[in-house]
Amino acid sequence: MPTVTNAAGAGQHDFVVVASRLPVDRVEDPDGEAGWRPSPGGLVTALEPVLREADGVWIGWSGDAGPAPGAFEANGLDLVGVGLSAEQVRDYYEGFCNTTLWPLYHDVISAPQFERRWWEAYVAVNRSFAAAAAAAAAPGATVWVHDYQLQLVPRMLREQRADVRIGFFNHIPFPGYEIFAQLPWRRQVVEGLLGADLLGFQRRADATNFLRACRRAAGLLTKGNTIRVRDADGVREVQAAAFPISIDSAALEAIARRDEVRKRAADIRLALGRPDTLLLGIDRLDYTKGILHRLTAYRELLDEGRLGPHVVLVQVASPSRERVEAYRTLRDEVELIVSRINGEHAEVGSPLVHYLHQSYPREEMAALYLAADVMLVTPLRDGMNLVAKEYVACRYDERGALVLSEFTGAADELTSAFLVNPHDINGLKDAIVRAATVSPAEARRRMRSMRRQVREHDVAHWAATFLDALKQAPG
Ligand code: F6P
Repeated sequence: MPTVTNAAGAGQHDFVVVASRLPVDRVEDPDGEAGWRPSPGGLVTALEPVLREADGVWIGWSGDAGPAPGAFEANGLDLVGVGLSAEQVRDYYEGFCNTTLWPLYHDVISAPQFERRWWEAYVAVNRSFAAAAAAAAAPGATVWVHDYQLQLVPRMLREQRADVRIGFFNHIPFPGYEIFAQLPWRRQVVEGLLGADLLGFQRRADATNFLRACRRAAGLLTKGNTIRVRDADGVREVQAAAFPISIDSAALEAIARRDEVRKRAADIRLALGRPDTLLLGIDRLDYTKGILHRLTAYRELLDEGRLGPHVVLVQVASPSRERVEAYRTLRDEVELIVSRINGEHAEVGSPLVHYLHQSYPREEMAALYLAADVMLVTPLRDGMNLVAKEYVACRYDERGALVLSEFTGAADELTSAFLVNPHDINGLKDAIVRAATVSPAEARRRMRSMRRQVREHDVAHWAATFLDALKQAPG
């Protein structure tokens, strides 16, 4: 039986979520009074019932530089805010997380930079998160650590609290070893992750890549999904497997079915001049999303007149990581091609690309999904891509078509989409044309099968499956 190594410091929560971000945003009212507003993502929706039932706590960062907000309650949930200094935001968040790991784990679409100072900041911030988790967890608690920003936390936590059960889920891809091997700190990252009892990945291929990294970077033995790890407590067995994440399908469908959302969808089509074909892209403005490839394909289709007389593309590109250089460059490139397309093809009052560099509430997204004839999801690499699943969940009318990159985790599950290799611009163009001209019967057949998948495998199913496997992991 594992022991509480620092019983004096043990906390009171039986379930602890450790994620880069808190599930709330800091806001100020008109009198300058600060407060917190829920930022309900899929993760918090899935984990909220578990958090409530198990006296849980969520540990994360607010997104702003400044001292740790510490423990507080918001929306009936216990939260602990970890603080990051301005230097840590620069070196840990913008540097190591988003200029080293993010491009490296997405197949070096943008060249990763390896800065020793950033690595030191990553170690220090991971230590702060691990300390907060160690202080919050009750004896024998379950701690679930999330994503690439916190890969050292499992081991750091185990060193302080051998009594807790630790799960880790990687939301982004885990790269092939030839790419991962570039990381100067590859062994430390593998060893950091192996502090967990169970490691979850989006796709089977990600878990396989990780198992290979265990053998190659850390010289460990693996058998099937199991890695044999020797540490202070002797030999442990760690499991690595795929647990594809999903969305709250029923809640999203309920939003899409609301009268005001359906009315808004009709108004959107009206505002766009009742197009024959409405294409839609919704992404964070990120170079992994293949926005430039999509725009290039669209531009060529317009040049060739292959999309019929009245087609419109709405591209929502929500602002993201705006102080990171690669994101600023991408914004310039996207805005250049958007203005070229409109410059070359639009008429007064009728742009052919409606480009929206903004974020929208879920209701507006649902209305856009309902309004679109063809949804374009064309990442060059994506751990899962929840936009694809959201589109399917909203299409209770069984209409619409999904063009989906085979380099997304979602492509493993949504096999009835029009699957594409976004690097193959001709193939992408053909797929867009096929999706735009698909017969209603075939569109319905494809949508029905994708909807079944998303309904049966929602985010609650994902969380329950992972937590069940964690309970049963050998440890
Ligand atoms: O998918 C990885 C992820 O970190 C998500 O958790 C998050 O929603 C998104 O990327 C944006 O990340 P951030 O704004 O925290 O850098």
